[in-house]
Amino acid sequence: MNESIHTASIPVGVVGLGLMGCSITTCLLIAGHPVVAIAPLPADMETAEPRIREHLAKAFQKGLITNSPQAYLDQLTITEDYGFLKDSRVIMECTLENVAIKKSVYEKIEAVVAEDALITSNTSAIPISLLQQQVQLPARFLGLHWSEPSHTTRFLEVICGEQTDVQVAEWLYALAHQWGKEPTLVRKDIRGFIANRLMYAMYREAFNLVENGYATVDDVDRACRNNTGYWMTLAGVFRWMDLTGVAAYHTVMKDLFPTLSNETEVPTLIDDIVKAGGKGVSNAHGFYDYTPEEAKLWQETYEEFSYDIRQLALKYPADVVKKKLAPEDDGGS
Ligand SMILES: NC(=O)c1ccc[n+]([C@@H]2O[C@H](COP(=O)([O-])OP(=O)(O)OC[C@H]3O[C@@H](n4cnc5c(N)ncnc54)[C@H](O)[C@@H]3O)[C@@H](O)[C@H]2O)c1
Repeated sequence: MNESIHTASIPVGVVGLGLMGCSITTCLLIAGHPVVAIAPLPADMETAEPRIREHLAKAFQKGLITNSPQAYLDQLTITEDYGFLKDSRVIMECTLENVAIKKSVYEKIEAVVAEDALITSNTSAIPISLLQQQVQLPARFLGLHWSEPSHTTRFLEVICGEQTDVQVAEWLYALAHQWGKEPTLVRKDIRGFIANRLMYAMYREAFNLVENGYATVDDVDRACRNNTGYWMTLAGVFRWMDLTGVAAYHTVMKDLFPTLSNETEVPTLIDDIVKAGGKGVSNAHGFYDYTPEEAKLWQETYEEFSYDIRQLALKYPADVVKKKLAPEDDGGS
């Protein structure tokens, strides 16, 4: 599908070098792009290079890359000077989830890049059509929603805003296959895009079950991990219904849908945790309590799992059955 796309001849830029900016930079380096990474804050200049180096070292250790980390770092320029973005064909904005900050960054990007360079935002939840109102050339602006850690995950949403040129989105969708992604093209802007809308529908019901005493947090989690979570790397919701019998779902929906939560307020359970300063494993206080050792081990286990689940996902790509039927086509599309 993408054999005409040569990443080495497509310079790209990343703006914002926090958690996601660093792993997105790592992903793009691994994919073969020359990358200019802009540090909007002086502090990023101190932290970004060691973080990216560490990601690459781990990727090397895990066999995700075979060249030395230095070979990739040679393709990376980290700077505070937006002028270095001049030749970039695609820019990934990964700054704080704040429209005013993102707008100020777009002004600096648009001042230096070519008119046909694409500008993308990794926003989690700001509508792309709203961000398009902050730029001068909205047709070349779109959402690219990554998931952490971006150099191991297969997820990516390519999101069109109201004014996005769909051809531009289709080209980016094709390019994203070169980044090791199995992307989703979101053709019409909607708040939360696809994956978050699905996830938040499930979060809402999880809070409903716990807050109303049907099950505890860890019982809900266990059910989720061993049912929903167990098969999702192979099959999405629609394939799952096909695999397990569509008619039964039709019957259950009729009676179950009216009983599901349609609560619109933020649940008290999460409100209390956040107001008490709880952040989750990062400060050992979330829905579960952690000792500092447990919190650290959960973070490490999460990273280790991201490599293991990636192996499984690669074994079962979306076209796994097509490939089994026509193995000679392997690698051709
Ligand atoms: N963390 C995730 O798992 C995740 C997942 C999907 C999308 N996102 C989105 O990605 C974006 C970045 O998230 P993150 O988790 O990397 O955040 P982060 O807090 O780790 O990094 C934020 C970065 O924003 C930049 N920044 C901060 N203040 C700035 C300013 N005044 N002007 C310009 N730049 C500034 C800096 O480079 C900083 O390192 C957000 O829009 C977030 O919603 C995050």
